[in-house]
Amino acid sequence: MNIKLVYASLTGNTEMLSDLIIEKFEEKGLEVEKLFIEDMEDFDFLDDADAFIVATYTYGEGELPDEMEEFFEAIGEKDYSGKIYGVIGTGDTIYEQYCVCVDQFDEQIEKTGATNPTENLKIEIEADTDEDFENIEKFIEDFSAAL
Ligand SMILES: Cc1cc2nc3c(=O)[nH]c(=O)nc-3n(C[C@H](O)[C@H](O)[C@H](O)COP(=O)(O)O)c2cc1C
Repeated sequence: MNIKLVYASLTGNTEMLSDLIIEKFEEKGLEVEKLFIEDMEDFDFLDDADAFIVATYTYGEGELPDEMEEFFEAIGEKDYSGKIYGVIGTGDTIYEQYCVCVDQFDEQIEKTGATNPTENLKIEIEADTDEDFENIEKFIEDFSAAL
């Protein structure tokens, strides 16, 4: 099973969430390869994955991180039918467009034909409430049950 998580993170919150998710998968005996979008030389890195997770923050007034833009466009052209995916991210409720890039990625990836068995996971800055941890557990459960 080839599972990948690709993330963007400017100040570390989304990386911290990604690390937590990867750790939770490891506890279930599932290995997840962590990829930083800025290290990627092309946008074919998910082609050989059976399942993948995209982790993003939201910037501007509900704008995609700059470093995610080309990947976002590229993924829309892919045929990823048969693959499982999920989208997670961090944001801040002081902004009107809270975590909207998580939903934007979900809509974009849906076009590839891949299947999302999870609810989009949105965390305010960092996971610290019971609800956050419940949502994380649910994400892990739903994702792994579909593998
Ligand atoms: C200039 C600026 C604009 C932001 N705009 C939004 C926004 O529109 N919606 C949102 O939910 N969060 C917004 N945020 C909050 C970030 O998404 C949040 O701090 C996130 O956890 C950053 O992730 P990172 O630490 O992985 O870079 C903004 C933050 C900054 C500094």
